[in-house]
Parts: sequence; C-alpha cells; structure tokens
Amino acid sequence: MLYQHTIGIIGAGQVGMAAANALFQQRIANELILVDLDRNRAEGEAMDLMHAQGYVGRRRVRAGDYADLAQAQIVIVTAGVGQRPGEDRLSLLNRNAAVFRQIAEQLDRHAPEAILIIASNPVDVLTYVMQTLSKRPHEQVIGTGTMLDTTRLRTLLAEHYMVDPRSVHALILGEHGDSEIAVWSHANIGGTPICGNSILGKPYDPAQMDQILTQVRRAAEEIIARKGYTNWAIGLVLAHLVRTIQEDQNSVLPISVRLAGEYGIEDVCLSIPVAVGLRGAGGRVPIPLNDAERQALTTSAETLKRCLHSLDL
Ligand code: LAC
Repeated sequence: MLYQHTIGIIGAGQVGMAAANALFQQRIANELILVDLDRNRAEGEAMDLMHAQGYVGRRRVRAGDYADLAQAQIVIVTAGVGQRPGEDRLSLLNRNAAVFRQIAEQLDRHAPEAILIIASNPVDVLTYVMQTLSKRPHEQVIGTGTMLDTTRLRTLLAEHYMVDPRSVHALILGEHGDSEIAVWSHANIGGTPICGNSILGKPYDPAQMDQILTQVRRAAEEIIARKGYTNWAIGLVLAHLVRTIQEDQNSVLPISVRLAGEYGIEDVCLSIPVAVGLRGAGGRVPIPLNDAERQALTTSAETLKRCLHSLDL
C-alpha cells in the first residue's frame, strides 16, 4: 500500500500517543511511525492502536527509527521531559535542549524535507533551538505555541456565555506559558466584541475576564496536579495542525514562529497569527494590538529571550 500521508512522531509518550490516537481516528494519516528510545513501548503502542482498524479502516501504525522517516511529510516532536507538579515549562529547558541536539541531527539526516511540529516544552524556546540546529528553513519548523491556550480560552469563554466554543473568537499570543497574553481588544462572540458589551444577558465584567485568563494560564498546572501530565487537548491540537498542513488550508493559527520585526520584536519564537499550509508557516497576520497588549507581548518576548541567552547554541 502506498502511504502518501506518512507522519512521524518522536516520543511515544502521553502527548505523542494522544496525537497518534487523534490522527488515527480522524483518518488524517494512513501511516504513523512512532520513534522512541523505548522501542518496546513504541511497538506496544503501535500494536494497540492498529487493532482498532476494524472500526477505523486500513491504516498503518508502526514503531520505527529515524531512518524510517525518509517519506514522512511531517514529523511531530514530543520527546523530552514533561513538567512535574509545581514545575514551570521554562525549567525543562536545559534537559530538553540537550535531547534536541540529537533529534535535530537525526532528522536532518533522515527527513531533511519534512515539516517539523514542536510540542515539547518549553515549546517556544525549543522551536527556536530546533530552527537553529536544523538546516531546513525556519518556516518548516513550527511550534504548537498558544494554539492550546487559545482553545482553552475559547472553551472557558464559551462556558461563561453558554455558547458554542466555535462561536468564540479570541486569541492567546506570546509565550506558551505564564507570560502569555489574551487579545481582549478583538475578542468577540459571534462578531460582538466582548469588551464593553452585554452578551446573551451577561454584562461585560473585566474582573471575570481576568479570572478566565488566570484559569487559562494555570490550566496545565491544575491538570498536572491531578493526573500528572496533559495530553488529550494537545494531541487534538497536533492533529488539527497536521490536517491544516496536509490539506494546505492556509488557516490563520496562533503558532510559535521566529519573529522578524512584527510588533517590533525579532529573533525569538513566540505565537502570533500565521497562515499555515503545505509549506508550514506561511504569511504572518499580526493582529493590531492596543498599547497594553503590545507591551505585554514585548514582556513575553523578553522572558523568552532571557532563556535563549542561557543556552549555548
Ligand atoms: C499544556 C502543555 C502541553 O499546556 O504545555 O498542557
């Protein structure tokens, strides 16, 4: 069977397998190759998922190594250590940056044309690291960035206003982490701006909006404190990103890319709205920010740059 949609996943852990499960169930890829240091684990995960073909149709999931990724259009990188309870994402940097050196070398050797989607944390810094270490164009190395935070924001706003989350248009930009910002100046429900308007009987309450943003920022911490990790939502984010690339949808998504002067920021990776299609990160769509939002985004960039300066790239 010719596999025209081969996706590689580096790291068959909780996030990697949540992405694999979403890709498999949504029939986005017809071949998934799982690469993990623990080959037994990758083989077991592949066997387990393959047994669902009776209900999903014929597709292939197999354990492999980097040499098996030669035909992969897209490689998802989830390898590395995850946050422990009480740990923030930036504290994972040195451990995961060391792992990325080996991954970059292997991917440049065996899958030099593939688009890389970085999900490991701290995702913005590791996206920058992979862009720097890999020889492929920066546009082909993107981070999931604040796509997950944005769906968390939309979910919480939808609960607040009791509407379909798909009728909520709101963005989180900047660091996938504590310094991320909500673009309240453009947030709307079905086209009606949230700021200053009563919507569906809910008067505008800035304190409630601040509380929702705090919940978004603390979401991973609250989940990790309960189950030890997060995986399902980020897995669906990864599947959405893969579909957007494969179908060349040119969807404008908040992904982590290297800024080149947008908002007066450069030489750091963080999330801004970017058109995503077959070639990875396409045109940037820098949504206008008010002064407070722009300052907060600059602060977010400075937080990330301090981390970059601590690395020997
Ligand atoms: C989270 C991890 C993916 O925010 O950073 O759940």
